[in-house]
Amino acid sequence: MTAPIHHITHPLVQHKLTLMRQKDCSTNSFRRLMGEISMLMAYEVTRDMPTQLIDIETPLEAMKSPVIDGKKTVFVSIMRAGGGFLDGMLTVVPGARIGHVGLYRDPKTLVAVEYYFKMPADMHERDAIVLDPMLATGNSAVAAVDRLKETKPRSIRFVCLLAAPEGLKTLQAAHPDVPIYTAAIDRELNDHGYILPGLGDAGDRLFGTK
Ligand code: URA
Repeated sequence: MTAPIHHITHPLVQHKLTLMRQKDCSTNSFRRLMGEISMLMAYEVTRDMPTQLIDIETPLEAMKSPVIDGKKTVFVSIMRAGGGFLDGMLTVVPGARIGHVGLYRDPKTLVAVEYYFKMPADMHERDAIVLDPMLATGNSAVAAVDRLKETKPRSIRFVCLLAAPEGLKTLQAAHPDVPIYTAAIDRELNDHGYILPGLGDAGDRLFGTK
């Protein structure tokens, strides 16, 4: 069975995404909105995170109460735009570990080429949440999840802001066990692999490099 695509339609997420898409949204605003959206998306992505009961004392009596083990979560940022998700996600899951996958898209073939890969130890005990704002061709996402699976994490989820139908199809075909969380499913890719209508180059917009 193929894992679901979670389309996060919450009005706060949609509103912030609309502001980010606009071409005159400044680098400063784009980055701030990305941080806010990340917190809201973290809320959805962690919805079924396991909790355990611990013994605590309220001012009135003892009770058992649930906690999550944030250290079991590893945010895997696909460089460089995936880094835009980190501050917001870490605000709500501060104990999480962080992994990085460095991939660039060959501009001619659009194939993902790896240049960096670093994960925390003991991945078999951890739930991995892969972060990449733009699921375009899906080639980078597939390559990142291929490599991540070699470390045998306990579970893998994939989070993006925008997904193209082509990218969803490619990622689901290669990794049907990985649920996808996205704030929007856009129309198509252009000939250069950019999402339409999209928001342009997420890395450039986050880091002000264009
Ligand atoms: N990467 C981006 O930053 N934007 C796109 O539209 C596609 C891939």
